[in-house]
Amino acid sequence: MGQDEYIHHHSFSITKEHRQALHGHKSLILWFTGLSGSGKSTIANMVEGKLHEKGISTYILDGDNLRNGLNEDLGFSSEDRKENIRRIGEVAKIFVDSGIVVLATFISPYISDREDVRKKVKQGEFLEIYVKCPLEACEKRDPKGLYKKARIGEITHFTGISAPYEEPVNPEIIIETSQYSIEECARQIMNFLKDNGHLG
Ligand code: PPS
Repeated sequence: MGQDEYIHHHSFSITKEHRQALHGHKSLILWFTGLSGSGKSTIANMVEGKLHEKGISTYILDGDNLRNGLNEDLGFSSEDRKENIRRIGEVAKIFVDSGIVVLATFISPYISDREDVRKKVKQGEFLEIYVKCPLEACEKRDPKGLYKKARIGEITHFTGISAPYEEPVNPEIIIETSQYSIEECARQIMNFLKDNGHLG
């Protein structure tokens, strides 16, 4: 029941390659996945600062921020999370086409949703970064007091408590935020990007 037959894709003269050449670097998606309170946004913030210093054009797409606008109609059921990640995937793909390095920080608890985003861009343009931190440590940090509310049932479908988190099977990068400082975690990501030619 779509309108697909009436929709035609336009090709414009300036391509992703032109825009990448103008920026002087490749574009890609750095996809940070992990539990609430694992450190996704904090680490992405530090990595973005380091990339910015190197003259790399970046943008952060963040769960809390996008849920206040583009995705304000979505909740935390598995269907809504799937739609959340689908929309973000489409936005991230547009950023890649625009020649920018996009850092996406979403719990994105389902493997299939994350893999669907990976499939939207070319091989090597999607790097999955697993921000690994034991549930107990996240719950102890509880920076927004959400775990406490989840434990008493004030928040339902809370990831790790009353909703699942599917760990990445083969992520490009794993950083352990309960083992290393934020600075060290950011350094590990920057080293990976450098060593694998992603910043060239
Ligand atoms: S998801 O699963 O990818 O669609 O979630 P995301 O868009 O990243 O949003 C996660 C932030 O929403 C807040 N929050 C919740 N998280 C998990 N479960 C439930 N039920 C929930 N309700 C609100 C929370 O602040 C998450 O932010 P982070 O930065 O991950 O702590």
